[in-house]
Amino acid sequence: MSLDSLFSPLDLGGLTLPNRVIMAPLTRARASVDNVPCALMGQYYAQRADCGLIVSEATAVDPFGMGWYRVPGIWNDDQVRGWQGVTAAVHDAGGRIFAQLWHMGRLVLPDYIAGAQPIGPSAIAGVGETMAPPSPDYSGGFLPMKPYVVPREMTAEDIAQVIEAYGRGAVNALRAGFDGVEIHAANGYIIDQFLQSNSNHRNDAYGGSLANRTRFLREVLEAVTRSVPASRVGIRISPTSDRKGMGDENPGALAEAVAQIAQDFGIAYLHLIEPIASGFMEKPENPVIDRVRALFGGVLVQNGSFDGAAADACIAASKADAVSFGRPYIANPDLVTRMRNSLPLAQPNFDYAYVGEEKGYTDYPPAHAN
Ligand SMILES: Cc1cc2nc3c(=O)[nH]c(=O)nc-3n(C[C@H](O)[C@H](O)[C@H](O)COP(=O)(O)O)c2cc1C
Repeated sequence: MSLDSLFSPLDLGGLTLPNRVIMAPLTRARASVDNVPCALMGQYYAQRADCGLIVSEATAVDPFGMGWYRVPGIWNDDQVRGWQGVTAAVHDAGGRIFAQLWHMGRLVLPDYIAGAQPIGPSAIAGVGETMAPPSPDYSGGFLPMKPYVVPREMTAEDIAQVIEAYGRGAVNALRAGFDGVEIHAANGYIIDQFLQSNSNHRNDAYGGSLANRTRFLREVLEAVTRSVPASRVGIRISPTSDRKGMGDENPGALAEAVAQIAQDFGIAYLHLIEPIASGFMEKPENPVIDRVRALFGGVLVQNGSFDGAAADACIAASKADAVSFGRPYIANPDLVTRMRNSLPLAQPNFDYAYVGEEKGYTDYPPAHAN
């Protein structure tokens, strides 16, 4: 199988991507307990640098928006220095990397923020549970799980502070050597919480109408594009996902509203999570990809349960310009080579997806070493 479309180059904000394989953001929790990226992370990303673009794992812009053990941040100088090592490793390997800017909002457990109540657009808890920090005598293995809590409804001041945190995160991403940033507006985190009607019951200028629910995203974009040119900014969305208590009264209309904002700002790309098969999340009954495509003239990256052939067909049919791969990148550092040569893919060991060091992280061999 030739996969000519998937392996054709693509211009992204003046960067020439050698192929249309994007490494999807993957939280792997190998940073320090102070959320500082380490050399091992540089090695991991460099192993995968032959894809068109790497989108980094979700990276917290503010300690109050960080609710996961050993994920990286980008709010202080130590973290910027740590990321400088990672971006240099990727660039030395010939790759390109954007930082995924993240704030978890209502999904932060109080355990991560000195017992404080997390913030969200409305006082509505996320549905489900997540990993809490381990006890002081922790020596590895699975982390304890705790349910999400009811957040405090954000005041105007809270909103302004989080938007500023995104602005600082963008400045720091440039200092850290990233080629651009992706705004994480998917998967039930703070921006998604404002966007979707299930999690946003506000009756001020940030809730109610679509124009109001997208206001927070627009203001984050304004803050980010003060330093990073729009041609180096992407936005990731999952408007049809209802995981963690998410859900929208009209996902298609929401997707169109975001696509119009992306078009108005002239951003580099929209990254749409909309699986073609259930697995990571449910396959939507009414996909929104065509509605996004009709309104947004920039690069459209599609994600969700693709293999090489399906990705190639999607691009050949002009439904999207590139496809991102998440789970396949865990165990296949040489995913590009494997897909290009129709080699079988290795299966990941999910026991090490979110915990550990080298094992299950940097020790997956390329196919030619098998
Ligand atoms: C271990 C793991 C970590 C993930 N971390 C992130 C993340 O940090 N940011 C994000 O937007 N999505 C994250 N995702 C979702 C993936 O980017 C992707 O949307 C999902 O795996 C579906 O794509 P796939 O079918 O190619 O795996 C994660 C998924 C997995 C399995």
